[in-house]
Amino acid sequence: MLNRREFLYLAGAGTAGLLAGQTGGLRPLAHAAADSDFQPDVELALKATVSESPILPGRPTVVWTYRGRLLKGEAWHLADSGRSYLGPTIRVRRGQKIRIHFYNELPEESIIHWHGLHVPAEMDGHPRDVIATGQKFVYEFEVRNRAGTYWYHPHPHARTGPQVYGGLAGLFIVTDDEEQSLTLPRDAFDLPLVIQDRTFDENNGLVYLTHPMERMTGFLGNRILVNGQPRYAQKVLSRPYRLRILNGSNSRIYNLAWADGRPLTVIGTDGGLLPSPIVRPNVLLGPAERVEIWADFSGMGKGDEATLVSRELDLGPLSGMTGPGGMRGPATGGRFLPNGAPFAVVRFEISHTEKSSSRLPQQLGEFPPDDMDSAANHSAPRQFHIAMNHMRGVINNRVFEMNRVADDEVVQLGTREVWEFINRGGMPALPHPMHVHGLQFRVLGRLGSLYDGYLDEGWKDTVLLMPGERVRLMMRFEDYDGLFLYHCHNLEHEDMGMMRNYYVRAT
Ligand code: C2O
Ligand code: CU
Ligand code: CU
Repeated sequence: MLNRREFLYLAGAGTAGLLAGQTGGLRPLAHAAADSDFQPDVELALKATVSESPILPGRPTVVWTYRGRLLKGEAWHLADSGRSYLGPTIRVRRGQKIRIHFYNELPEESIIHWHGLHVPAEMDGHPRDVIATGQKFVYEFEVRNRAGTYWYHPHPHARTGPQVYGGLAGLFIVTDDEEQSLTLPRDAFDLPLVIQDRTFDENNGLVYLTHPMERMTGFLGNRILVNGQPRYAQKVLSRPYRLRILNGSNSRIYNLAWADGRPLTVIGTDGGLLPSPIVRPNVLLGPAERVEIWADFSGMGKGDEATLVSRELDLGPLSGMTGPGGMRGPATGGRFLPNGAPFAVVRFEISHTEKSSSRLPQQLGEFPPDDMDSAANHSAPRQFHIAMNHMRGVINNRVFEMNRVADDEVVQLGTREVWEFINRGGMPALPHPMHVHGLQFRVLGRLGSLYDGYLDEGWKDTVLLMPGERVRLMMRFEDYDGLFLYHCHNLEHEDMGMMRNYYVRAT
């Protein structure tokens, strides 16, 4: 039944956007072959497959992982993630054209999404583009993003949570001339740190969602892994480092700080470098968000340590403090680590002292002014109410529909708009990390906050909303028309349908 106020989106090449009426389930053809007119600078193969990874002492853990192979380009474009289930790190320069052959060797459908990248809708890894076991999808796009720390992960509908949890995720790092002209730490002094939480059974197998209540709060593992390893320790020299931190967890929120109380020096967010460094006592990092830290170990002596921790955070009763923990069965040893519990994340050990001349640049990235007046709707922002309704996650009272947009989800290519996300709280009152595909936005303001540690500066693609909060974002719909997603990046919420399409209509 078609709601009078809703359109049906007709997908596929040559179809002119939005049509009213019944379409009989038309689906686009998967992009299965390379386009001979597209001349890539970098060409890779990525295979999603079932494998094993040594994580805990004893038996290796069965994981799902991406394996990569460089087909064209220089060795630096693809780096193995080491002793980890994480996919290889892809590094490219802004302006480069990239072709990626994705092979699905999982026992179920999948598709890769390039989180944070500004790419055409057909290359974004929408769940309607999933491919079956044994099939191939070819991605071709030009990298237009600023230098920054982006990432890739699966996006099949209702299966993103378990697939990412199984190990499918990797970093996609972009560099550009602006970044290269700065004297930021490079190579061995530029450290990616992917933080995730996992629960293991007595045979070192991964345990996912054992209680229905966990769907509501989101999955919370009882061990913290960094780059696929527990109790992560990193040997460093007594000099500055660049830390690129990704919260790759399904639903856990980190409240990052240095254990000794020194403030964090933040140089970048989701969409790359800030205009200039900022100093914060702590930084909240919701699922899918990234933060880049200038970590200066100068002046420390051999054997000294510095620990990056997640500080205690009161997320209320339904974020797990008194949640399913009490109901955990013997499979997880009954242990439960609530969202907001404190723990160590990374221990840095000084292995050598070194005199380094590397100084923190006071000017980082160039930023255009982005005032609200340039938005078409600055006096009446487009509002999105995020809520749990009868144990179902909804956005403006709707759940995900694969090929549909409502008329209030259609925007015009080439315009700017103010979007407002409103976490009404409700029952249960939960945090929602809201993510928009296809672009980077700016946070204009936040209302009703009881927390500190938000990093609302800089370019963002994911913004954390605590119960009772509302945020205003400046959106810019540029270059690409078509169907894109916006959703809660708590992956259990996303999988239950707290996700919608928006449609960028060409003029
Ligand atoms: Cu990180 Cu829709 O994804
Ligand atoms: Cu995304
Ligand atoms: Cu949510």
